[in-house]
Amino acid sequence: MRHVESDDRPERPTLVILAAGQSTRFGRAKQLEPVGPGGGSLLEYAVYDALRAGFGHFVLVVRERQRDEFEARLRPMRGAGISLSLACQRLVHPDLVPLAPPGRVRPWGTGFAVLAAATSLRRRGAFAVCNADDFYGRVAYERLAHALAAPPPGIRAFAVTYSLADTLSAFGGVSRGLCEEQPDGTLLRMTEGLDLRLDGAAQPTGEGADASAVRPDVVGCTPSGAAIRVGADSQACMGLWGFFPDILPLLSRRFESFLAASPGIDDEFYLSETVSNLVVAERTRCGLVPAGKGWKGVTFPGDHEGVAVSLRQLTDAGAYPVDLWTPHVHAEPVRSAQASLFGPPQALPGGVATAPGRINLIGEHIDYNGLPVLPMALDRHIHLEFEALAHATVELEGDSAHGPFAFRLDRAAESAPAGHWSNYVRAAARGLLDHGVELRRGIRGTVTGTVPVAEGLSSSSALVVASALALLHANEEQVEALELAALLARAERHVGVQGGGMDQAASLCGQEGHALRIDFEPLRVTPVPVPEGWRWIIASSLTRAEKAGAVRELYNERRAQCAEALERVGRTSWLEVMEADQAEFATILAGAQKSLPLTLSRRFRHVATEGRRVIEAERALRGENMSAFGRLMNASHASLRDDFGVSTPALDEIVGVARDAGAAGARLTGAGFGGCAVALCGADEAKAVIEALIDGFYAPRGGVGRRALFVADASNGAIVTSE
Ligand code: GLA
Repeated sequence: MRHVESDDRPERPTLVILAAGQSTRFGRAKQLEPVGPGGGSLLEYAVYDALRAGFGHFVLVVRERQRDEFEARLRPMRGAGISLSLACQRLVHPDLVPLAPPGRVRPWGTGFAVLAAATSLRRRGAFAVCNADDFYGRVAYERLAHALAAPPPGIRAFAVTYSLADTLSAFGGVSRGLCEEQPDGTLLRMTEGLDLRLDGAAQPTGEGADASAVRPDVVGCTPSGAAIRVGADSQACMGLWGFFPDILPLLSRRFESFLAASPGIDDEFYLSETVSNLVVAERTRCGLVPAGKGWKGVTFPGDHEGVAVSLRQLTDAGAYPVDLWTPHVHAEPVRSAQASLFGPPQALPGGVATAPGRINLIGEHIDYNGLPVLPMALDRHIHLEFEALAHATVELEGDSAHGPFAFRLDRAAESAPAGHWSNYVRAAARGLLDHGVELRRGIRGTVTGTVPVAEGLSSSSALVVASALALLHANEEQVEALELAALLARAERHVGVQGGGMDQAASLCGQEGHALRIDFEPLRVTPVPVPEGWRWIIASSLTRAEKAGAVRELYNERRAQCAEALERVGRTSWLEVMEADQAEFATILAGAQKSLPLTLSRRFRHVATEGRRVIEAERALRGENMSAFGRLMNASHASLRDDFGVSTPALDEIVGVARDAGAAGARLTGAGFGGCAVALCGADEAKAVIEALIDGFYAPRGGVGRRALFVADASNGAIVTSE
């Protein structure tokens, strides 16, 4: 568990509220339904109770199309100073589900919803998960907070339980997680009970019947149809759980197995079933936290009234204010929030810096020659979740392949061994310091990401950009975007690749729905709209283009060859070559072929013709002439393959398969030597192109990897969201 600085009490836990359900049975979106006397929804009561129990952060998992509605409803809570973020649950997930199975509409289930919130959770300590449409009661959150603050050794999860009889509905059968307990008080197994109701036949009747003596059993069935009969006092889990972040990799693994088993179109990955499986199959220990009687929920429309009456009674009794979020009322729960259990909130600025990778549509290996290029920012990001430190060190951790590191900002210029990921963060710090930015505060945080690494999609520049933004934010400093892009491009060269300035500018200046024409000398970014109805398909060649390795030498060699070729034909800039009219351009090219050695003449031809293709491609994009754009992509690939020598047989094959399947054009993207190709196709052709790639390229190589194949959208540039 993470601890706050200078205080060995654990950080306040986070509450993840699952609010992405479809509410089919209830008939309308019930998560925001007003239930309390002041119009509060059940999820607002959950936040209110959890806040009083000591929870410090809230993550709401919602559906994308509900996002705005939730944002509007959350405003009063944010206004009351509550740390709250939204996570969207989609059918695709960059790491886990690159493509939604055809026909799938139903969300993947509660276990997957927790994974959708994972980015906001990894850096934090303990967290709880609850459903937005249940009322668990203050006692439940208090007991869970206590359990999370001091878990018995070996416990990785907690299930809050209620007496089953108190969770039934008078309006119909309900589904509940029925818990069986081990002698040590932990969960033995959980069975999903469906259509549970009191056994009507055994209802005590007649005068003088002693209800407690003959309390009827609860009957129902299992998902496979087997009959269930259990005592009314059995423990039922209502979806309130406690976890530590180490549960997340276990959940991802289980979800991968769920997907690998080709689930039916409506099958869901349930959190309760998954925890139960972890307990049974992997001996994960899950403590049980009985929470008494306080649960109330809305399963059927008829339940609504009962919950509303209870909330009115609780409000009248002084348990809740009528309006949950008026500032003077809110101050009380925050002040009294279990100060002894959890450390104080952090005062220094923190947040999440999010920077996209990029896909270059056309204009390869010409940015460092000062010629315009045409990339777009990708909807895949590096996230750096950070808190500012009072001292000037950087302490970051990543995933299993990117272990923790720390360095002092006054020693940012000292590099770690070649290939170590900290060098990109050091480069960002060094760039800012060289630029005169005063970095008195450091950062501590976690880096996660959805940009495939070493695939030619600029994960490294996205990391540089995210690091710089986090450092600037922590120090309450600002640098204008283009200036920042330019200084970061220079700084990243300290890592060893003598790159141009495309990647950092694309990551910082991306615009949704737009490609970016980027000019250099001086740096300028001009968004160019991408016409509707076209798709960019990204396909990995399954060979990493590791810039810290051999690729570095090959890349730097190309850069040097370009400079030499230009000098040997007696020119001082490539822009000057671009200014030539058609006839003069042909003469320059012919002259270069004659005067230069073969390799240099080929490099020359690539840069000169690619520069022209970018200008034509921009024109094609603006004129919505996407077939012309596709042809230019094809020509670009041929030039990169034959003249620039940066393609590979696998990239050539992908490009060929995509074009044969109907793509308007395809080419390698990024520096080459492995990495990805990008194919352009009409929305109607996308499916056929993807299937052709799966069958023609990936199937013979063992199938599509997790990150191998996806459709990219042009997204916005990097941002920092404050906590
Ligand atoms: C890498 C570099 C860029 C650019 C491309 C090739 O991504 O970082 O500056 O040169 O290769 O176009």
